[in-house]
Amino acid sequence: MEDFIAKLAQFSSDFNNKLSSLFSFSKGKERRVVEAMFYSVSNGGKRLRPFLVTNTAKLFGISASQAFITAAALECLHSYSLIHDDLPAMDNDDLRRGKPTCHKQFDEATAILAGDGLLTYAFELISSEKNPFSTAIKCKLVNLLASAAGAFDGMVAGQMLDLYNEKASDIDNPEEIIKHIEEMKTGRLLRFAVEAGAVLGQAPQDKYDSLVCYSRKIGIAFQIADDILDVEGSVEQMGKTLGKDAAQGKLTFVSLYGLEKAKQLAKELIAEAKHALSIFGPQADDLRDLADFIIQRHN
Ligand code: IPE
Ligand code: IPE
Ligand code: MG
Ligand code: MG
Ligand code: MG
Repeated sequence: MEDFIAKLAQFSSDFNNKLSSLFSFSKGKERRVVEAMFYSVSNGGKRLRPFLVTNTAKLFGISASQAFITAAALECLHSYSLIHDDLPAMDNDDLRRGKPTCHKQFDEATAILAGDGLLTYAFELISSEKNPFSTAIKCKLVNLLASAAGAFDGMVAGQMLDLYNEKASDIDNPEEIIKHIEEMKTGRLLRFAVEAGAVLGQAPQDKYDSLVCYSRKIGIAFQIADDILDVEGSVEQMGKTLGKDAAQGKLTFVSLYGLEKAKQLAKELIAEAKHALSIFGPQADDLRDLADFIIQRHN
């Protein structure tokens, strides 16, 4: 695991250096929103989604520099989801990635706009000339990302259910609902990360399907791990306020089953995810290590 952590750290450092080049600051007063966007996107996330895009694409001979714009677009969109997730009307959090949340550092209106700006920028980046792929591939990515992030079956839908089920006492089948919430609010963007790599590499159908299977399993496991860390993690390592799910009456696998069963479930999902990669042999070891990292991480 140490080797993988060092690899991820090296990847993040390269990624962060290149990410800065995508932001320019005008002289006018509107630069405040770009400052807020940059503050939130550049402040120390783990960069797991870009790592997934890059390492899935690599399976098909696509280089990190070719995959960079797609990876950066996804990280912009993910960072938008965190800014809005932290807003007072949503989870009302003060700490994110070890620093004040966007609305604490700036103000609420600027944070809303910074989220809007990052969401929009994701699509600008993917469809731009900077992304060195065919129009057909870029169109496919735009479509997949919009659906993964959106309100019908994507992240926004998951966030709606997450809020709606707070303190709900009349849930008929909580097990099914919680799986659905986790899959949408977190799983869909992780699935996009993997699918995007496969789309860039024009993966054959059997490999594409195996990757989708892997990504769905790690997506749910990732959110279960986040919910476990909300109870057991350290604020210093996580860089965000903890204990909030219970305080806000969130429906999670932990609230439903308790810590031990949630851990067992996450472990099973990770084993299944790794199994889904057998078609790739040792070539997919980075994706296997990332799956293990998801449930062993402290941050
Ligand atoms: C946090 O995601 C939000 C969830 C989907 C649970 P990450 O744990 O990947 O956050 P960063 O990007 O590393 O800050
Ligand atoms: C949020 O889940 C997932 C998103 C879509 C941003 P959480 O609300 O549990 O994420 P954290 O714990 O605040 O990072
Ligand atoms: Mg939330
Ligand atoms: Mg939250
Ligand atoms: Mg959480």
